[in-house]
Amino acid sequence: RPVTLSGIQPTGMPHLGNYIGALRNWVSLQDSAQPAQAAAAAAGTAAPPSPPSVLYMLADLHSLTVPQEPARLRASIRDLACALLACGIRPDASVLFRQSRVPQHAELGWLLFCRSPVSWVSRMHQWRAKLQLLSVPETALDGTADGRDAGLSDQDIGSIAETVAGSLNVGLLSYPILQAADILVYRATQVPVGEDQAQHLHLTSLIARSFNAHYGKQIFPVPQSLIPPTTGKRIMSLRVPTAKMSKSDPAEQSRINIDDSPDDIRSKIRRATTDSVRGVTYDPQSRPGVTNLLHIWMSLEPSGTKWESMSQEELAEQVSARFGAMSNQDFKNVVTDVVVGHLTPIRGEILRLRKDAAYVEKVLADGEAQAARLAERTMRDVRRAVGLA
Ligand code: TYM
Repeated sequence: RPVTLSGIQPTGMPHLGNYIGALRNWVSLQDSAQPAQAAAAAAGTAAPPSPPSVLYMLADLHSLTVPQEPARLRASIRDLACALLACGIRPDASVLFRQSRVPQHAELGWLLFCRSPVSWVSRMHQWRAKLQLLSVPETALDGTADGRDAGLSDQDIGSIAETVAGSLNVGLLSYPILQAADILVYRATQVPVGEDQAQHLHLTSLIARSFNAHYGKQIFPVPQSLIPPTTGKRIMSLRVPTAKMSKSDPAEQSRINIDDSPDDIRSKIRRATTDSVRGVTYDPQSRPGVTNLLHIWMSLEPSGTKWESMSQEELAEQVSARFGAMSNQDFKNVVTDVVVGHLTPIRGEILRLRKDAAYVEKVLADGEAQAARLAERTMRDVRRAVGLA
């Protein structure tokens, strides 16, 4: 039986990259997971009972790997729950919950920490990118070295310590292992994510297989990642189209949040970085800005054309036929209309749900009770295998 799990961090409103790369697929997986229940819901009849098999998580523990102001974190969690419901996550079909309210995640996380080589996490792209960003020499992190051995001056060590205290904490390094626990604690078989999570998912499968091998039992299934094929797997920043669209980019202009007003969307797309080449063509290498807008358009335009399954050549042909004669500015208007059309009902629903905090809290609390029951079932087997039961 397929079990689906995924998560998103409450570090701000989801943006178009989160939506196209992940959230939209969350909704379609939810809707296809339990056809009998979906049909019953549509017909207004009682759904046959079936154990929950689709779980979506607000990864609040993960968000603490960078400093969070408590009041703001609380508000972000609430707002993210509204956003997920507004995108189409239905509490009757999916278990929606806060990671921190299901303590089995942290418990399994610890057990997995103790079985994961440090080198498995220190080579994760996101960790290395962070090191680079803060220009911390990697040698500074090598176990027992006091730094002097690595050729660092006292001043270097001082500034590294400063940086490390501020933002390079153990949580940030071990974060992918907690992510593995999130997945394995429900024995999930499929994980819908954007391309940037591919390496974390690979690590999860390594951890599952090595745990099974060590304890000689098939405790965890090896999960599959579900990543959109081409057009939607990695939506790029509107300002720097060679970097991914990201919640942590300080430039608001770089992303479209799913609750942006039509005016904001229009102005952000109008100012999106493109180029001065005439006519719209599909060319990921030399025209990243235009191609990113094409990917956004292809992901959201309502014709149902299967852009995702086309080869690069087919995409280029189709785009030339359709937009070849159009200026970048006119094409931006086309993209704007599709994005505004798609996000307007979601924005309306977010605004409505923000006023219904009691309902949102109840959805999460119900989800947490269901999630904890499932997680506890797995943990009983895990504790027994490890020798803690
Ligand atoms: P997070 O919060 O960074 O992102 C949530 C989801 O959005 C996808 N995504 C993108 N997809 C396409 N283009 C983009 N520019 C883009 N930016 C983000 C991400 O791939 C992700 O699917 N570690 C996870 C949260 C997590 C999790 C889990 C996910 C915690 N535990 C267990 C799956 C399973 C994260 O930080 O996602």
